[in-house]
This record gives sequence, C-alpha cells and structure tokens, in this order.
Amino acid sequence: MTVMIDNQKGAPTEEVFPELTRDVIDRMSNAKSARLQEVMEVVIRHLHAIVRESKITQGEWWQAIDFLTRAGQMCSESRQELILLSDILGISMLVDAVDNVAGPGISDSTVLGPFYAGHQRELAQGDSILLREEASEPLVMSGNVTDPEGQPVADALIEVWQTAPNQLYDVQDTDQPQGHLRASFRTDMAGSYRFRTIMPVSYPIPDDGPAGQLLAAMGRHPFRPAHIHFMISAPGYRTLVTHLFFEGDEFLESDAVFGVKPSLVVRPEVKEATNTVEYNFGLARELRTEGSRSPSFVAGNNGISSSEL
Ligand code: BEZ
Ligand code: FE
Repeated sequence: MTVMIDNQKGAPTEEVFPELTRDVIDRMSNAKSARLQEVMEVVIRHLHAIVRESKITQGEWWQAIDFLTRAGQMCSESRQELILLSDILGISMLVDAVDNVAGPGISDSTVLGPFYAGHQRELAQGDSILLREEASEPLVMSGNVTDPEGQPVADALIEVWQTAPNQLYDVQDTDQPQGHLRASFRTDMAGSYRFRTIMPVSYPIPDDGPAGQLLAAMGRHPFRPAHIHFMISAPGYRTLVTHLFFEGDEFLESDAVFGVKPSLVVRPEVKEATNTVEYNFGLARELRTEGSRSPSFVAGNNGISSSEL
C-alpha cells in the first residue's frame, strides 16, 4: 500500500517504503509489555515520519548518531546530558503537563532540573539556608501548604535549593560548602513554613556539552530566569516539584527549559527593609498507587529498571 502525503514544498509525494514501518511495528507482537508495545509503535511511526518528511541524508543520520553518542558519553553521576536535552527541547515540560494533575487549589509544577541533591538537613521554621555569608539581598520566604480544599497539610516536607550569586549550585562548585543554599523544612500544625535566604540570580544551564552545542546551533541562549526550587511531599499527596520565579527577570519569556508558568512568578514585598515573599502551595491528592512521583523517583529509582522493559 502506498500513501500520498504533502511534503514541505507542497508537492504531493509518495510515502517512501511504508511496508518497512509496518514490518517493524508488527514484529513486536510478542512484546513482554503491552505498554511498551503501545509506546514503541508511536515512537517507530514518528521516527520513520521524521526521516521521510525531512528526507534525512546518510550524512545527517551519521551526525545524529554522533550527537547522541557524545551526549551519552557526557553523562556521569553529576551530569545528566540526556535530561538537559529533554529540557531544552521542551520534552520535560510536556511530560510534566501530561502526567500532572491541575485544578483549583493545586499548585502548578515545573521541571525538576539536574541539581536536586537528595534529602538535606532539616532546619527549624525561620532558619537561614545559607552556610556562608553572601553579598546579596536577603529574602524571607513564608506561606502555607494546603490540600485541594484549602485545609492545612501539617508536617509536609519542604525541600528547597537555589544557586549562589556566582550562578552555580553547591554541587557544581567545590568552593561552596556542600549544602549551601539548600535545606529541608517541615510545615507546622497550621501547614505553615518560613525560611530565610537571598534573592536568587538568573544563570546558564550547563552548556559545555552536546546539548549546549545544539542550543547555540538553534540560535538560543542557555539562561534560566532566577528561581528557587521547591519539592513538597506529604503522605497521601502527589509530590509537588516546582519553582518560584521573580517578576521583572529578563529571561522570564525565554527560559532555556520552558519552565515558567505565570502562577509561579512572584513579586517580593519589602517589609522592615527586607524582601519578603508569601506563597501558598496546594497539593493534589495521590490517587494512584503505582508510578507516582516521589523523592525516590527523583533520586533516579522509580522502581522500574530499564533492563526490565
Ligand atoms: C535547574 O533549574 O536547576 C535546571 C533545570 C533544567 C536544566 C538545567 C538546570
Ligand atoms: Fe535551577
């Protein structure tokens, strides 16, 4: 069977080698997982469509293989180039949109990013997350964590992390005390949290590898608007992975990883000569028992090993 499609130049073209696509898909009839088969069928259809529609040459195919090989080789314990690639192509935000619940009383989520460093020291309400002085404007963050009905969620774990004024996270910078500008807190009985920090700065994502080369080749900059990361978890609720951004940042409209949502942009108020932000987070109830987003997912162990696929 041949199918007629329109190519980009507008001329009708015969679909090249359609029986190959069918054959590759049909050979999955003994797949061990129905879900794997379902997803792989879509992947195969779309990858074959890319080759046909873009009329990929042998040279371009080789360039793509070389790019993916270098991206894989760049990965280490402290560097995840493939997630960066997913981030700059908007794939991470699309997965977030497809797999997250939204609705009244539920806060927007955004990308996790590669700089979450696992569970950190738990501090008391009002403590500072700095481990050394920084010549930056202080910021006091406070607010409540609530359920979808607006009732307080007590004892929720709030994990926060942000860059230092030199645009680096502690895990990227051996000159910073490890654990600087990251910490955990628990909400009190009223669901409240409060901590002291400094105003964050905008910074470039790691762009010294293949993902950065692709960004530059596409004519894009690597910057993210200033933000503070939050991960909020409590039993019975979906773990919320999000950030707060700051009004007026020059990169709000062009975040390199497409993570900005209007509801996550705050404007600090100056109270007693200090920038303060009050922000309430709403958690969604966890209805699923499997595959839910949790800190163990984030640490790279979601219970599914790729070798089991
Ligand atoms: C971050 O905000 O930490 C981040 C997110 C995506 C890619 C790189 C960094
Ligand atoms: Fe970040």
